[in-house]
Amino acid sequence: MRLIRIEGLNAGYGKFQVLFDISTNIDSKKMTVIVGPNGSGKSTILKSIFGLTNIYSGGIFLNGEQITRMSPHQIARRGIAYVPQVGNIFSNLTVRENLMMSGYTLKREEVRAKIPEVLEYYPVLKECYNRRPSTMSGGERQMLAMSMALMRKPHVMLFDEPSASLSPKISAQVLDEIKKLRDDMGITVVLVEQNAIDSLKCGDRAVLLVSGRVAFDGPAQELLGSPELGSMYLGIKAA
Ligand SMILES: Nc1ncnc2c1ncn2[C@@H]1O[C@H](COP(=O)(O)OP(=O)(O)OP(=O)(O)O)[C@@H](O)[C@H]1O
Ligand SMILES: [Mg+2]
Repeated sequence: MRLIRIEGLNAGYGKFQVLFDISTNIDSKKMTVIVGPNGSGKSTILKSIFGLTNIYSGGIFLNGEQITRMSPHQIARRGIAYVPQVGNIFSNLTVRENLMMSGYTLKREEVRAKIPEVLEYYPVLKECYNRRPSTMSGGERQMLAMSMALMRKPHVMLFDEPSASLSPKISAQVLDEIKKLRDDMGITVVLVEQNAIDSLKCGDRAVLLVSGRVAFDGPAQELLGSPELGSMYLGIKAA
């Protein structure tokens, strides 16, 4: 089922246009993977959904409701969470304080109830509950960013390169946790990833962006199996 519809989207930063006539659908409770070369506009799509870019024309609809040009705050209230590529946690606050901060839209009792729930989900955070992120590993920091997004009970999560700068082993764990969000919690996931092959393997649908335009939109498996696109843009060796 279609949850988000992006229609003829032209967007960028100020006068600098990055996205050109993007149309695609994000299916409910599935994982859509956005791949493409550096600078192709992957992060800009996520930021556009979350209300952080200039949209010149076209629209973004959540369950049929137009969210184009809403503020990030209004969009967050509709259950969309955005986990940016960098700056997704407060480095001067402990894990506990980060979780409290991220529940700012919730009532105090809700925050108290929700923290143990996310800690159950990411037990590794229990061990660093009173520590600051600077003393934690990259993987632990990513779990913290994910748990902060989960505090607000989102039904859509937008991830921008969650495994960037992590070792292959930890990247695989993070990807596994993201899969669980979809499979165990029924969260709709939009994932931007450099590590295209692994993420396409767990993804349901794929969008390939090249120079701000859609070069492929279809089943993730199909993109994985496409010799031209795969070898040109994703580093997949042709058989
Ligand atoms: N805040 C900004 N202001 C102006 N231009 C920006 C801004 N953020 C990104 N850009 C430009 O927009 C274009 C697309 O950037 P974007 O970050 O969406 O690409 P990306 O596909 O996510 O790249 P990467 O793989 O390097 O993360 C680039 O030319 C970039 O320089
Ligand atoms: Mg990016």
